[in-house]
Amino acid sequence: MAEEVIIARETHELKGTVQVAGAKNSALKLIAAAILGQGETTLENIPKISDIDIMSEVLERLGAHVQRDEHSLHIDTSSVESFETPYELVTKMRASISVLGPLVGRFGQARVAMPGGCQIGARNIDMHLVGMQVLGVEFAVDHGNLVATTPNGLHGGNILLDFPSVGATENTMMAACVAEGTTVIDNAAREPEIEDLANMLNAMGAHITGAGTSTITIEGVPLASMHPCTHRCVGDRIEAGTFLVGGALLGGPVTVQGINPSFLRMALTKLEAFGCTVEMGDDSITVSRTQPLRAADIQTLPHPGFPTDLQAQFMLLASLAQGSSIITENVFENRFMFAAEICRMGADVQIDEHHAVVTGVDHLQGAPVESTDLRAGAALVLAGLAAEGETIVRHIEHIDRGYEDYVGKLRSLGANIERATIESLSAR
Ligand code: UD1
Repeated sequence: MAEEVIIARETHELKGTVQVAGAKNSALKLIAAAILGQGETTLENIPKISDIDIMSEVLERLGAHVQRDEHSLHIDTSSVESFETPYELVTKMRASISVLGPLVGRFGQARVAMPGGCQIGARNIDMHLVGMQVLGVEFAVDHGNLVATTPNGLHGGNILLDFPSVGATENTMMAACVAEGTTVIDNAAREPEIEDLANMLNAMGAHITGAGTSTITIEGVPLASMHPCTHRCVGDRIEAGTFLVGGALLGGPVTVQGINPSFLRMALTKLEAFGCTVEMGDDSITVSRTQPLRAADIQTLPHPGFPTDLQAQFMLLASLAQGSSIITENVFENRFMFAAEICRMGADVQIDEHHAVVTGVDHLQGAPVESTDLRAGAALVLAGLAAEGETIVRHIEHIDRGYEDYVGKLRSLGANIERATIESLSAR
């Protein structure tokens, strides 16, 4: 297939309203959780993005029937018989590892290829394993596959995570739903997506309390009492944050709809620190700006701290702000790849280990750039709208992983932007 690119041209005004899709990082785990309820689960508000296609394929390989109806997914897991997830799928998307907990819960065993995925930091899975080991899971590595067994069954236990890892909290929580006895996860991740997953699991018959706080308690229930459910996925706070940065960059007002503003408290506080005005509705947020952007410092932290998935977008704001901002990345190592690309457009970013010193410049210049990961890609497109001339963003398959119709939504706000094939560019 011909390589597609996004062409973003200087845009003076970005304003209007966009509907935010369901949260990618929630939807992926909700799909995995469906394994625990035999029968047809319906998930609503599921984004049309390529990561969801991969997760659907992961379930189909296990024997499930997955059918999409616009933004709903119908997942019938009654015919799931396999507990094996092959390398070619896990390597496409690291989040495939989230089937580990539900498979262990349903079959008492799993065979999942060791993950590859996004090139942002080491992204080990040691904490996933430690959590499940407390529940009685034994792990071995066999030719690149992680083999999980439960020789003495699954039982509850007390788990203290080294770091509030999102993936480890979710995997452990899903396995613990059907473990015998009570499990307590301390130093659990508090992301809104964890709470969404717990709400779905409870609707399937699980007994989980405390999700969204640092201590999650799971009273195990028998597997047979878990059943399918209908669940609506929460809105995507990172997609919402990305469009808000677009509004902040060009003045707005831009409104994002379909998002609980409390999910983005820290990011909204930072938008204000950068000189923006933020208004919150029940299910919407509006950003506007009439004064110049001013520098502000950011440090990424687990929720409710500043999300690492908005770090690149805010580095772009800092690049055009008056003064110097210090951005500290505490969640992933090597997550400053965006800096190299934005510097090609005229930004001034100095990296020192996990700190970036961003000195604001007057303007950016359009350039050919490469999206190195999902969020960096989305931020480069916004940079192209703010820059003089034309920016051609390559490797937009990263953007398609997590943003549904990114170009269409930006166009609806007035962006001068299009998708094209690389061949059509050379013919110009
Ligand atoms: C999820 C999100 C990702 C987001 C991240 C942090 C999905 C599909 N992805 O990723 O978009 O950026 O949360 O909010 O939901 N770590 C270990 N050992 C482990 C687990 C994690 O060392 O067993 C490290 C990682 O390398 C990383 C940090 O902990 O440095 C955070 O990882 P984690 O919270 O687990 O993120 P993910 O669940 O992978």
